[in-house]
Amino acid sequence: MMTPDMTSMERRAGVVQALRKAGAVGVSGETLAHQLGISRAAVGKHVSALRECGYLITSTPGVGYTLKRVPNLPLPFEVYPLLHEPDCDLYGGAETGSTNDDAKALAAQGAPDKSVVLAGRQLAGRGRLGREWVSPEGGLYLSFVLRPQASIAQMASLSLIIGLGVLRAVRRLGAKDVKLKWPNDVLMPNGKLCGILLEMVAQMERVDAVIPGIGVNVNRSKGALENGAYLSDQLGELESARVAAVMIDSICGIYDEWRQEGCRFQPFAQEYVNDLSLVGDEVCVRRIDGTVEAEGVVRGIDGDGCLIVGDRHVLAGDVTLRVPEV
Ligand code: BTN
Repeated sequence: MMTPDMTSMERRAGVVQALRKAGAVGVSGETLAHQLGISRAAVGKHVSALRECGYLITSTPGVGYTLKRVPNLPLPFEVYPLLHEPDCDLYGGAETGSTNDDAKALAAQGAPDKSVVLAGRQLAGRGRLGREWVSPEGGLYLSFVLRPQASIAQMASLSLIIGLGVLRAVRRLGAKDVKLKWPNDVLMPNGKLCGILLEMVAQMERVDAVIPGIGVNVNRSKGALENGAYLSDQLGELESARVAAVMIDSICGIYDEWRQEGCRFQPFAQEYVNDLSLVGDEVCVRRIDGTVEAEGVVRGIDGDGCLIVGDRHVLAGDVTLRVPEV
């Protein structure tokens, strides 16, 4: 996994920017070296690293380097310049097993609050309740290392807050008719757009770090999930780096708001309920072991983030629509 060596990330971003600017004309290694204040050998190293990430860069005597193709991946040096509040460290960007596993490893090594692992494909993606999260190309997979000063009880609300952050982000990108399915799925009319898995790194009673992992379906490309909704269904093909930047800005933003509000859910409850799906519907909420926790009509959400089903306030569970018996 790529380390966030900021100078190298900024230089790499600089090389890409200069190559983009030069377009079909191309730019010599000497000019690049001069513009970026680095040696020609260093330029050569950055170009090789970019090629390894999937950039097609030709090199022609007398012309120099020409950028022919850019991979659609959330690479840190593409994402970082697009952030409004660049107060986070970015890792990864191409392919990995699971960004949640990578983020947990980083947390164990002492990575600071707001470290983010990105990927355009996962080979061992994990979902809630021990399920697999199939993670083909065309998706965006990202996990945060967060270190809030909050109790374990307050962490349950963080999971809802992250869902709200994702919802704000996809709206900002222009998506319409997006809803939250409690506790933290994001839906479009044609299916599930995003899933969130919140894990903790704890020692004894103390929470060291929280790892929210987010999988968003961005571009419906080859190998896409048939029953999933994709942002591209509404918005056409999107640049993964831009989606990642909007997502990171939004999540870091709402995380800061949540901390300023004393890590409470209550100040966000109205916004959450405005976009809550299934209000007025008959549902069944099941526990992890499949047994029924509550059945009845969804009436909303309370100040602690519990789903109100009939007269019960449910803290956790899996919600399904109740199909009337015939
Ligand atoms: C769900 O079951 O709905 C939650 C899915 C969460 C998937 C994301 S993708 C990024 C991160 N890495 C993982 O292995 N899982 C989460």
